Amino acid sequence: MYVLELVGQDDRFAAAEAATAASDVTPIAAGLATARGLDDGFETLALTHRAAELVGTTDASLDSAAVLLEAAGIDRDGTVAVRARDVRSTAGIDTQAAERRLGQVLVDRGFEVDLEDPDHVLQAFFAGADDASAVDADRDTADIEPVAPGDDGLCALGWLAVETDRDFADRQPTDRPFFQPGSMDPALARALVNLAGAGPGTTVLDPMCGTGGLLLEAGRVGATPIGGDAQRKMVRGAGENLRALLDGQWHVYRGDAGRVPIADDSIDAVVFDAPYGRQSKIEGDLDTLVADALAEARRVAARAVVVGDRPWNDAAESVGWTVESTFQRRVHRSLVRHVAILQSRTDGV
Ligand SMILES: C[S@@+](CC[C@H](N)C(=O)[O-])C[C@H]1O[C@@H](n2cnc3c(N)ncnc32)[C@H](O)[C@@H]1O
Repeated sequence: MYVLELVGQDDRFAAAEAATAASDVTPIAAGLATARGLDDGFETLALTHRAAELVGTTDASLDSAAVLLEAAGIDRDGTVAVRARDVRSTAGIDTQAAERRLGQVLVDRGFEVDLEDPDHVLQAFFAGADDASAVDADRDTADIEPVAPGDDGLCALGWLAVETDRDFADRQPTDRPFFQPGSMDPALARALVNLAGAGPGTTVLDPMCGTGGLLLEAGRVGATPIGGDAQRKMVRGAGENLRALLDGQWHVYRGDAGRVPIADDSIDAVVFDAPYGRQSKIEGDLDTLVADALAEARRVAARAVVVGDRPWNDAAESVGWTVESTFQRRVHRSLVRHVAILQSRTDGV
């Protein structure tokens, strides 16, 4: 069993992404979840910081954490260090005091401390009870069951197993050779391609690729990205970005998302950020454009992720998709991104 430290404020979204690379992901407190096992690709997750092999959980007090560690079975040799986290600053714990206290327990149990280069890192996650509502917020699918922490908050102790690769999050769209306002944040793009099932050996299409943010992240997790856009400027710009920032194969083309130059059922997933209503660069009607793009996506792949400034669920269902789950991401006061994870329906539509 592992404990996962989640990124951001939306645990349901983070847990859904984590579930693409871990089994039985279950939120246990704001910012924390457990998982039974970790799969390949775990280190590519955007919305999980790290996973630790669970020692145990208790209430969020130092005394309880120390008692838990004193009694825990520890099947490890070598040097240790303790890292304590007050997850989302909800527990009000003094993390340095926690590190000293838990470090002393380990010293008393015969371990040598090495803060520079330890063989094992014990993570102590403290989460308060106050923010428990975040665990339950905005749920509309039953596949990930939340468990609220007790009144005294929750402390989870675990041995650090995997830290996710955070490099991509430091690279902003403004640093790329080709930038346009409205480019998607790399962390969201990474989460979306993971939710689409991108990974080594897969092929992922973004038929409205814009500056290529989704393509870059699909490529970085090992997929072969294919991008299309109606605007010549975007196709050229996405190509510039991919050439500069991605090793490995990729393809871009100019074309209409309603007529994709790809054979039936020949790729793994489609992911796209549909134009927003207030955006000017749309020829024709937005409803028709997105409906046609969803139908084409269904023709070429069995899985898709669609993002828009409104829910496209009905349009997706009417062309043969099942909406597996939906999420909302607030960008600013007047823009909420709606995310839908789509799976092909096999009832002949
Ligand atoms: C919301 S933007 C995508 C932004 C992108 N995710 C990014 O980070 O740059 C939508 C894109 O759809 C393109 N588009 C609009 N109508 C299209 C159509 N019929 N076929 C293909 N692309 C289209 C626009 O040119 C624009 O680049």
